[in-house]
Amino acid sequence: MTDADLGAALPLPVPSAEMQDRLARRRSAPAQSLAAPGPTPAEVERILLLGARTPDHGKLFPWRFVVMGPQSRADLALALAPLAARQPDPGKAGKTLAKLTAPPLTILVLSTPVPDHKVPVWEQQLSAGAVCMNLEHAANALGYAASWITDWYSYDPEALALFDVRPAERVAGFIHIGTLAEPPLERPRPDVAALTSWRD
Ligand SMILES: Cc1cc2nc3c(=O)[nH]c(=O)nc-3n(C[C@H](O)[C@H](O)[C@H](O)COP(=O)(O)O)c2cc1C
Repeated sequence: MTDADLGAALPLPVPSAEMQDRLARRRSAPAQSLAAPGPTPAEVERILLLGARTPDHGKLFPWRFVVMGPQSRADLALALAPLAARQPDPGKAGKTLAKLTAPPLTILVLSTPVPDHKVPVWEQQLSAGAVCMNLEHAANALGYAASWITDWYSYDPEALALFDVRPAERVAGFIHIGTLAEPPLERPRPDVAALTSWRD
């Protein structure tokens, strides 16, 4: 299922006020506020297809996805609870599990870099991050809110084993997708001019 055949001429960019407006006001959702409806299986496939249309140096596609419905995440939250109790702030670590279980659908994005390749691992990992952002855009384009988070279980070796993350892989993000009852509120945005230098 692709929208363009290999070698096909693709459209050149054209100005789009609608796309600019969407980008200018896009906002992640608080994961714990994401509720039903979530995307249907066909919509998830579409979101994955659009999300995976992402730059990656060397066409290595150094990432993979795990689509997680509510049951697997509920089971995982139970298994993670004892590990939360061992975190530096057990109360907070336990509470963050609500972010894992509340959303109707989650796509776990794993960075799967090819080792000892001429494309540096850093660049392969950057591509996984780009996929995460693109998945958010794709979910938004289908009318859903989304949240990209990691949380402590993305870094705890025992937790990673529960998610079947392989030793050479890293969590790029949990992309939670669903519907918000209330509009999200704007947050501080960077002073882009202060972060930018210009050169002739
Ligand atoms: C790589 C990455 C990891 C994140 N991990 C967490 C997290 O562990 N917990 C959390 O509450 N938010 C996490 N966030 C989300 C941010 O805190 C915040 O919601 C997001 O940057 C909002 O961006 P936006 O307003 O531009 O959509 C993460 C974001 C990124 C990019």
